[in-house]
Amino acid sequence: MTSSTSDPTPDQAIRQRSVEKYRKRAEGYDDTCGPTWSIRERTVAALALEPGHTVLDVACGTGLSLSLLRDRVGPAGRVYGFDHSPEMLEQARARVAAAGWQNVTVFATAAHALTLPEEVDALFFHYTHDILRSPAAVERIVAVAKPGARVAIAGIKYFRGLLAPLNAWVYLKNYGYNGAPGELRSPWDRIAPHLVDFRIEPTQFGMGYIASGRLAGATGEP
Ligand SMILES: C[S@@+](CC[C@H](N)C(=O)[O-])C[C@H]1O[C@@H](n2cnc3c(N)ncnc32)[C@H](O)[C@@H]1O
Repeated sequence: MTSSTSDPTPDQAIRQRSVEKYRKRAEGYDDTCGPTWSIRERTVAALALEPGHTVLDVACGTGLSLSLLRDRVGPAGRVYGFDHSPEMLEQARARVAAAGWQNVTVFATAAHALTLPEEVDALFFHYTHDILRSPAAVERIVAVAKPGARVAIAGIKYFRGLLAPLNAWVYLKNYGYNGAPGELRSPWDRIAPHLVDFRIEPTQFGMGYIASGRLAGATGEP
């Protein structure tokens, strides 16, 4: 797996802000994830993984999703996870080592420079807003998956309708976790054009979403 040092602008500045934020946030990160645990489980379920599948945990952070993904693909499958935060990844590595999983690999890279040793059957995005807003990152990630690969995405978005006056608070909430905290109206709109059977389900009264679909290009599809 390789990682390029050339970083397209403005992604470089966004990534620097993200790495700085997670340097401070990594230690207490897992303690903040309890309230969204059921969303994590539902997003994993939306992938409809089967034993033997390969799945990429995009920006795996501390590795909180690894056990859920690994349970689904079983010992014959494979889980890859990457992240650009050394502090978050250190925890993911410790998690893999403690569990003794031989078929789970986590590694450091920026999303736009990602390479994998094989194409995967599924892409899992759980609270990966900066990556979804980066065209270079989205292009690279879809390029490492098989045509027809399952994709599931969870994240934060702006409220619509009556609760829209609360969106300044939603922005501030997202600010703490992202280098590019805005563009919360349709955070999925850079990856959606790559997908067929695309669905979005609101979560948290409309402040969150779970989206799913499949990469286009499977046999018999456009
Ligand atoms: C909100 S955390 C989510 C972590 C994990 N997916 C989870 O659900 O717990 C966002 C993660 O994205 C990572 N990240 C943000 N931009 C990235 C990029 N361009 N390349 C790699 N990792 C990135 C951050 O380091 C952070 O670990």
